[in-house]
Amino acid sequence: MGYGGPHAAFFAAKEAYKRNFPGRIIGVSVDKKGKPALRMALQTREQHIRRDKATSNICTSQALLAIMAGMYAVYHGPDGLNKIANKIHSLAETLSAGLEKAGFRQLNELFFDTIKVDAKDGNTLDQIRKKAIKNKINLRYNTDNSICISLDETTSNEDVAAILSLFKEKESKDLEEKIGAGENRFQKMDMDRKSTYLTHPVFNKHHSETEMMRYLKRLENKDISLTNSMISLGSCTMKLNAASELYPIGFAEFGNIHPFAPLEQTKGYQYVFSNLEKWLSKITGFSGVSLQPNSGAQGEYAGLMVIQAYHEKRNETQRNLALIPASAHGTNPASAIMAGLEVVVVKCDENGNIDLKDLKEKAELHKEKLSCLMVTYPSTHGVFEEGIKQITKVIHANGGLVYMDGANMNAQVGLTNPAAIGADVCHLNLHKTFAIPHGGGGPGMGPIAVAKHLVPFLPAHPLVKTGGENGINPVSAAPWGSSLILLISYGYIKMLGGQGVTDATRIAILNANYLKHRLQDYYPVLFSGKNGRVAHEMILDCRNFKRTAQIEVEDIAKRLVDYGFHAPTVSFPVAGTLMVEPTESESKEELDRFCDAMISIRNEFKEIEESSALRNGNANGDSTNFFPSNVLKNAPHTSETVTSDHWDFQYSREKAAFPLPWIKDRKYWCPVSRIDNAFGDRNLVCSCPPMEIYEKEISENKEELV
Ligand SMILES: Cc1ncc(COP(=O)(O)O)c(C=O)c1O
Repeated sequence: MGYGGPHAAFFAAKEAYKRNFPGRIIGVSVDKKGKPALRMALQTREQHIRRDKATSNICTSQALLAIMAGMYAVYHGPDGLNKIANKIHSLAETLSAGLEKAGFRQLNELFFDTIKVDAKDGNTLDQIRKKAIKNKINLRYNTDNSICISLDETTSNEDVAAILSLFKEKESKDLEEKIGAGENRFQKMDMDRKSTYLTHPVFNKHHSETEMMRYLKRLENKDISLTNSMISLGSCTMKLNAASELYPIGFAEFGNIHPFAPLEQTKGYQYVFSNLEKWLSKITGFSGVSLQPNSGAQGEYAGLMVIQAYHEKRNETQRNLALIPASAHGTNPASAIMAGLEVVVVKCDENGNIDLKDLKEKAELHKEKLSCLMVTYPSTHGVFEEGIKQITKVIHANGGLVYMDGANMNAQVGLTNPAAIGADVCHLNLHKTFAIPHGGGGPGMGPIAVAKHLVPFLPAHPLVKTGGENGINPVSAAPWGSSLILLISYGYIKMLGGQGVTDATRIAILNANYLKHRLQDYYPVLFSGKNGRVAHEMILDCRNFKRTAQIEVEDIAKRLVDYGFHAPTVSFPVAGTLMVEPTESESKEELDRFCDAMISIRNEFKEIEESSALRNGNANGDSTNFFPSNVLKNAPHTSETVTSDHWDFQYSREKAAFPLPWIKDRKYWCPVSRIDNAFGDRNLVCSCPPMEIYEKEISENKEELV
């Protein structure tokens, strides 16, 4: 429970609503060989393409937790889950019967794991509460003098006996004898499930720890992770998640605390929160922090609601318009719409900076309605915007506030801060700058920090006192969001200290500029500052290669996989480009390996630029077809392709799989070759028939599945 999270929730909807879904949907596609290949469809692209028309602002969510929940089902399988459910229900029945026998009314007629007991009156409830606390048991006490009790598979017979004894004046032997004999109410009422479930083979094979371990390892081997090589995903800050920072999240003392455990039982967490809030205030230069939002986008929403509460308090409820630069991350406009704001886009100039003239014009034009500007600094173009202070002044002069998107704080910590540029509120992606692992798309944490005038509006909570005196409604169910993973950021800052986190920023910027220096003669760097420097990331312009060699940015990204690297961010914020962010965690040796790979790829398509025969080959322009002579278009090359008895390509197997000498020693084999994107988008699969079915159907008739 981690004192509030992280945790995942799933939901399902009818076919008709699938395109309106927030969250991640995995489509089943095919690779060039007709092999089934899973591919994420919809979701984040939703925001980047549809922006203010997106159906949600969710970017980081709870992917890792969803995987954990899935693995629970893999390990236990349908029979195991059934046994677990029966055990829980039987214990709950036993408890219910025991309480009735002890003279208490159990109020839930139909229940699975949760019962509600009428404690009769306030006095009895208080006595039970006192006894429970003495016995280290937390129950839920309601204002109507009822008590709710939930059991799970970790509850033992002894636990049930201990709960029962709270309701008895003295210990009773006969109650304990009955434990475990609870009947199944669902069976009795003929409401138990008869249909099959979890029929996919994956839920029916891995039921020993050894099998499970090997299954997980096989899955891990399909992945390029930081354990293989640098992941230079711009805007994602894939830095080291040190074992020493992650260690405490495994402590039962932190992990097993319910979000609404009494405050006097959570002093350790309170200590962590107050220190973390203090440090984040110092880092941002702001006066107050809320640890409630669970992601950057949730922080955006919370920050915007705080801004709106501020305007409302000043009787300026008409301020409902957000200015957002064209270069903004897709979550910005999506969050603004969720917060009830109208979005007006501000242009960027040819250097990637906010077009000051356009900003002024729009701020003045919408002076009466202006709520705020959302600005990312350093910008998503990878530069410290020189006019930033002027920008914030223009907004303030027109009655608006400035929301700074803090996704790029890795370029600021210790060197500058959002308060210094004149912002009023920012979020911090703790899963970027402050070392929480991304987990393939979450969990994350997106606390907000605010200037003094916004502190009273920080998110409150109805059950636990937190936030400002005029706090907005909570943005998450738990008062401090996903408390457990805050320990990681706490450890990161505590262990590095002020000097350490500042050095991290310096090295992140230095590493980015080193990459720029090595790569700029091969890939034009789209934007840089006056001194020719970038911030902590940069955009490599690949658009021209389409003209010179018919090479798309996607081809470069896929070819990098043959070299053992995860692609940088593709086509954000500018279509046809790569955004590269090395972070401070990479050694010079690793940066050089990456540059060598990028340069080698550039040389590969230089050959194509210089030879129209190579360019055209037998190609027909369809990315799912093989190109006999073009090593980029055919990338990534799987072990199956390279070891096949048929080799129709006009380059060697060695060039395909081991284009540089060091690759032999650390080869990553991609499990699938080039995937048909459009096919995956159309074929969202939410049930799990055996994969063999896809194999058969895909090779027989691709169209059938669409
Ligand atoms: C610039 C920027 N803003 C906002 C976000 C959204 O943050 P989150 O994914 O935590 O919701 C991101 C995430 O990648 C980002 O890069």
